[in-house]
Amino acid sequence: MAAEQDLMEKVVALCKRRGFVYPGSEIYGGLANSWDYGPLGTELKNNIRDWWWKRFVQSRDDMVGLDAAIIMNPKVWEASGHVAGFSDPLVECKNCHQRFRADQIDREAPCPSCGKKGTFTEPKQFNLMFQTSIGSVEGDKNRVYLRGEIAQAMFVNFKNVLNTTRSRLPFGIASIGKAFRNEITPGNFIFRTLEFDLMEFEYFIRAADWEKTFEYWLGEQKAWLAELGFDPAHLRVREHEKEELSHYSKRTADIEYQTPFGWKELFGLAYRTDYDLRNHTEKSGVDLQYTDPDTNEKFIPHVVEPTFGLTRLLLMVLLEAYQEEGGGDERRVVLRLKPALAPFKAAVFPLLKNKEDLVGKARGIYDALRRDFSVAWDDRGNIGKRYLAQDEIGTPVCITVDFQTLEDDTVTVRDRDTKEQERVAIADLPRHIMAL
Ligand code: GAP
Repeated sequence: MAAEQDLMEKVVALCKRRGFVYPGSEIYGGLANSWDYGPLGTELKNNIRDWWWKRFVQSRDDMVGLDAAIIMNPKVWEASGHVAGFSDPLVECKNCHQRFRADQIDREAPCPSCGKKGTFTEPKQFNLMFQTSIGSVEGDKNRVYLRGEIAQAMFVNFKNVLNTTRSRLPFGIASIGKAFRNEITPGNFIFRTLEFDLMEFEYFIRAADWEKTFEYWLGEQKAWLAELGFDPAHLRVREHEKEELSHYSKRTADIEYQTPFGWKELFGLAYRTDYDLRNHTEKSGVDLQYTDPDTNEKFIPHVVEPTFGLTRLLLMVLLEAYQEEGGGDERRVVLRLKPALAPFKAAVFPLLKNKEDLVGKARGIYDALRRDFSVAWDDRGNIGKRYLAQDEIGTPVCITVDFQTLEDDTVTVRDRDTKEQERVAIADLPRHIMAL
């Protein structure tokens, strides 16, 4: 376990040191559970997001996208059940007034914050929706919510999508964006935060098809994790007990990842029945039924919802990819990221910084590759150190321009995983990188 906690500390330190993730508002002392994604974290997050969109939306005939407003009419959240039922049970220490999730604390033990014993209140439901108000006057009339899940916009726009696309059952609406939850969190870095990025889709079906659709999407979620490079031994599926099901779900399964702080939810999969479309039909008065184009049968579709936490996945991708190898001079940290995820696909080095012709040649290669790939440049220190610096951020190949390059237009290409080097013609570099 110590080694595993160590892993978490090492990944957090790497994130800070190399600019993947910074503490939010750091110069003002930070803000609990808020984090900012630095230059490399932004690239990694965008790469995960783009892969997901390509795999689950652009490559499929049965999926369309939606990019909706974060602030919606508050009636949406009343109809969806979030105002009444989206809550966690909390207890408060009567001495220091710190709040804790009731399921994560021993109420007989001293308060972890102030150390006093026997001071906890009875558990009370605490709504997770962030509230704000529109305009300058606060109050019930102007109250709005930051969305607690991105799903609702896909239900609210169901009719718009039907009317403007050729989508026919079964089909999905997909979305990527921020969700906000006023959570008490145990502080496991970016695992559970106040705002986070979600990728998910609502897959609309006939009620009779829900079980086979559920199994299909569970298989697809697992398949994508394998493509991302996850070891299946680090993953498991956990069915939700009846008592823990969300207010809208008849069946939920989580894909959990073995983190240094235990098995934790990575992706979720829920059968939401016709709960949402039915509620919105009743509360808005707008008919959200689907009409079968062949039989003219009218009905409210059912929904299976695969959901993928983007920022949580980013953490798990880093934990999975982080490795330390060798000892002494041979010691290195290497992020074995799939090349499609790596912030830089390649790094270009001139062998020596003070040789103008080498630097000029390397600069030309760098500029040419940058038109198609995200590429790093480094001309500091010795080549060995530059390799190590790229290994720990997951750059799949390093390209060195040396004196031979000036004679025959070839460069040394060094592989991150095998550390092997080969000579490659400059003209072949784009193909070489594409093949990764
Ligand atoms: N529309 C369904 C929904 O939002 P959820 O299980 O509440 O389901 C979906 O959240 C996913 O979002 C989770 O599987 C997890 O990956 C991620 N997630 C949930 N709460 C989070 C938080 N506070 N911080 C970071 N990621 C979170």
